[in-house]
Amino acid sequence: MQPPSTSTSDRRAELDELARKSADVIVRAAERRSPILLVTHFDADGLSAGSITLTAVRRLGASLHQRVVESLSEDVVEDLGQIDSELIVLTDMGSGQLALLEKGFREKEVVVADHHQSLGEPAKNTHHFNPHTVGYDGSTVISGAGTAYLLAKAIDERNKDLSPMALVGCLGDQQDKGPQRKLRGLNADILRDAIELNLVEETQDLILFGRQTRPIHRAIASTTSPFLPGLSGEEDRCLALLDKAHVPTKIDEKWRTISDLSTDEKQRLVDGIIQHMMALKLSGEKALELIGSVYTLVKEDPWTPLRDGREFATLLNSCGRMGRASLGLALGLGERGAAFKEAELVYSEYKKSLATYMNWLTTSPGALIREENLVIVRGEGVIDENMTGAVSSIVSSSNLFGTGKVTLVITTRKDGAVKISARATDNLVSMGVNLGKILQTLTADYGGSGGGHAIAAGATVDKDKLDGFLATFERTIDSVLLH
Ligand code: C5P
Ligand code: C5P
Ligand code: ZN
Repeated sequence: MQPPSTSTSDRRAELDELARKSADVIVRAAERRSPILLVTHFDADGLSAGSITLTAVRRLGASLHQRVVESLSEDVVEDLGQIDSELIVLTDMGSGQLALLEKGFREKEVVVADHHQSLGEPAKNTHHFNPHTVGYDGSTVISGAGTAYLLAKAIDERNKDLSPMALVGCLGDQQDKGPQRKLRGLNADILRDAIELNLVEETQDLILFGRQTRPIHRAIASTTSPFLPGLSGEEDRCLALLDKAHVPTKIDEKWRTISDLSTDEKQRLVDGIIQHMMALKLSGEKALELIGSVYTLVKEDPWTPLRDGREFATLLNSCGRMGRASLGLALGLGERGAAFKEAELVYSEYKKSLATYMNWLTTSPGALIREENLVIVRGEGVIDENMTGAVSSIVSSSNLFGTGKVTLVITTRKDGAVKISARATDNLVSMGVNLGKILQTLTADYGGSGGGHAIAAGATVDKDKLDGFLATFERTIDSVLLH
């Protein structure tokens, strides 16, 4: 791995050079007319990355296959290796499985465009395009979709029109961590491309799901990032809160939306949410995360969630996690009409299933274990294996079971192994917690593998070794926090 260089312009030049090398490999394969296999991850960022790469490669006139996968296991890599292709391009995944790729794709050329923390070294036939290798933090300043976008731009500058999907991807990965939830670093550079082309606008508003499209009480109830205990999923309580805050929900029998509110009304609404949280003995600080930068995809139809970057990402996430990845890709590629209507139905199923899980874990005594630095949700037999990440993000953001703790959501997979989704907080990360590294290191002893980002990571382990794994994981977190 290259050592991170110090100067910002050097770093950017190194990154662009890496992008150019990988782009050349793709362009050459397209010119040879040899089939290219595109593989991407199934969450919002992965689907955004996949749609960017697919469009860029299609524009080269290449013949291609596309696959969307949940993770890269030995079996998955073996299956991918059987598909007729000379070049495999992986997006939003691969850096944590370089050894697996070396073993499975010996006969192929491989491009990995990823933003996860890597493990091991790339094989000779692998072109590794990962911003971490030149010193960029891939969990905060660029996503998988952003990485795919830089690659697409290196293939052809005209692919700058794909910048809105790169923003959707990074919002799906919750990289809006600047002051007032602004995008930072390389994401901010991509935003500039999108603004220059008049594709995206950045403004300030309340960040509630459906701020331009839904009645206000529904927008509050639909918001799960952050999860607002007592309000998320509770439309009646949201109506009561609006009443108490003297914010009228209708004018002339017509529902108002968040964007119809005056600044004063927005302030009263946020104050009302803060008071609501404090009445539940929770910190009101979470409510401040509801104020900040919103990113509008101005070419999208008004009155659709696709016009808001975060809402677009939620739609993609629901498609991926509900087994409808191709539908998500279609949206990313620009299909609307029936595809959009279908995605809205998938989103409402996704929301129902998350609400069921949240209800189960707040009402079932055995659902959850609280330790000093850890909340463990025992979702075996209850939580679908594709939903652990979404549940873990929500539990972590809710603060319902204590603040400043690592969240683990556990379930069993169809093949009998145990799947784990881990989430930390910004504060824990600043104290040295790196979940991706911890899971990369620990899981080998417990019959599995793991990795990801410092703040969000995942793993699989052997069912019989779960208890041992949990004990070691807890000791590791405790010792990081002790120092
Ligand atoms: O594979 P990928 O990098 O796209 O996924 C990262 C995952 O971590 C996303 O599902 C995202 O929502 C989640 N995440 C989170 N909390 C953060 C940052 C990311 O739950 N602070
Ligand atoms: O599955 P989940 O959403 O919890 O994954 C969190 C993050 O960890 C994602 O970015 C995912 O790609 C990553 N991950 C990984 N290696 C694994 C499992 C998850 O890099 N074995
Ligand atoms: Zn990602």
